[in-house]
Amino acid sequence: MAHNQAFHRRTTLVNGPSTSPPTASPPNGGAFAPGSFSAMMAAQAQSPSAYAHAAIEASSPTAPGAIPIPGSRPRKHSAGGLTQHMPKLLTPFNTSSIRILLLEAVSQLAVDQLQKQGYQVDYHKDAWSEEQLVEKIADYHVIGIRSKTKLTEKVFKAADKLLAVGCFCIGTNQVDLVAAARRGVCVFNSPFANSRSVAELVIGETIALSRQLVDRASELRAGDWQKVSKGCYEIRGKTLGIVGYGHIGSQLSVLAESMGMTVLYYDVLPLMPLGTARQTETLEELLGASDFVTLHVPELPETKNMMSTPQFKAMKKGSYLLNNARGTVVDLPALCEAMESGHLAGAAVDVYPKEPKGNGKGEFSDSLNSWASRLRACKNIILTPHIGGSTEEAQRMIGQEVATALIRYINFGGSVGAVNFPEVDLRAITEAEGTGVIRICHVHANQPGALRALNSLLGNYNVDKQNTDSKKDVAYLMVDISGVGEKETSDIYEQVSRLPTNILTRLLA
Ligand SMILES: NC(=O)c1ccc[n+]([C@@H]2O[C@H](COP(=O)([O-])OP(=O)(O)OC[C@H]3O[C@@H](n4cnc5c(N)ncnc54)[C@H](O)[C@@H]3O)[C@@H](O)[C@H]2O)c1
Repeated sequence: MAHNQAFHRRTTLVNGPSTSPPTASPPNGGAFAPGSFSAMMAAQAQSPSAYAHAAIEASSPTAPGAIPIPGSRPRKHSAGGLTQHMPKLLTPFNTSSIRILLLEAVSQLAVDQLQKQGYQVDYHKDAWSEEQLVEKIADYHVIGIRSKTKLTEKVFKAADKLLAVGCFCIGTNQVDLVAAARRGVCVFNSPFANSRSVAELVIGETIALSRQLVDRASELRAGDWQKVSKGCYEIRGKTLGIVGYGHIGSQLSVLAESMGMTVLYYDVLPLMPLGTARQTETLEELLGASDFVTLHVPELPETKNMMSTPQFKAMKKGSYLLNNARGTVVDLPALCEAMESGHLAGAAVDVYPKEPKGNGKGEFSDSLNSWASRLRACKNIILTPHIGGSTEEAQRMIGQEVATALIRYINFGGSVGAVNFPEVDLRAITEAEGTGVIRICHVHANQPGALRALNSLLGNYNVDKQNTDSKKDVAYLMVDISGVGEKETSDIYEQVSRLPTNILTRLLA
């Protein structure tokens, strides 16, 4: 029972028009006003540009900033002798009524992209506290954050209109993903937009280590002239061992080969090599054959301390270790030992088991990690404050990717790329399919009988297509039905919203 109540939170037609005040509400505080759908459709007919602006940009393959619609079915459209099909604009709602709160100075590119859709965007440079969020979040349909704003269950409870969260960063630890899903809030992030930035940094570090660049530079900054060539090498002809051949590892493989390096990689999956790279059968084989070993695996129980004393011993004498993956992957006291004994000739470390909460002098100290001063004292070591993916380009890519996912979800209902939510999409409704086609986006409890109840409500209509998936307690259904009049649209909305398993229902047409 308690479980069910958790799901019966709201039945709001969040995309209902903001121009006409609601005259009646569906149960549980919904804001849809019968009759206002037709008022809006009339308004849309009078002033198509005001309403359709967003979708035109979103759906036209030639428009700047066009949002690709996966699986969209082309409509007949003759341009320059080329016949193609165009998707119907799916915006029966005034997109200016969508309010978006952007915190933590997310990329300007994302702000522009969202404003172009006609959404009202409130932009703030700082992170907000839980108290601030609880006070204001009820006004917004979407919130965009980076890593410092915490979205807790308490925040989601206050977020009556919230449809989606955009994490304009890699991780999503700062968001209570389960609480979000249970309230029908879809969370997007951008896990791979900074792969190139990390790969480039590794190339730079490889050269810097093999030339002892950081030690020479810091000596000279202290006024100490030390011109040496002993122990300094070119990277051309050396072997780079990549552990984890995913987005970053494979990108790095291409860059390293173009620098004249031989590339080996080890991965738990059999993966096709790029260029002339070769996959090794075991980690030990890679460690014994590489001049540089660079780590690009995720943080998992299996990768915790995957580089410790036995693995350092298996590395060639005079080789180098680079870790730009996650802090837990390397046993750092064991690395200090391998460096102090002279077995390793150098190391680059960007990530640590515990990292300071913010920038500041003296933050990287023994009180945070007991071995910090020992690591700092090693020769030929490059220590960086988790900046592997921190570039302007990566921030822009993240902004673009997350804004695109949010727009696609708001305007078309597609949840592909969501981290906490079933990933569902439908091919576009085409204009050729005519009027009277509506799309129902229905988030519901993943319980037996939920689909049967919904489909029995839709029994009198032609179901053109539907797609559904579930993730743990939450399921998401997208369905397009045709032959629907305006009055029926409002009835369908109210009936679907009243289903006992309903979490959140939206209609697009
Ligand atoms: N330093 C930074 O600022 C920064 C920036 C971005 C990503 N990262 C980190 O870099 C790492 C790699 O990122 P990615 O985008 O390439 O990830 P990815 O998921 O694309 O690739 C990871 C690869 O590691 C492999 N793998 C998993 N477990 C393994 C194991 N036990 N042994 C060998 N291979 C294993 C996977 O099969 C996959 O091919 C992640 O830990 C990520 O968090 C750090």
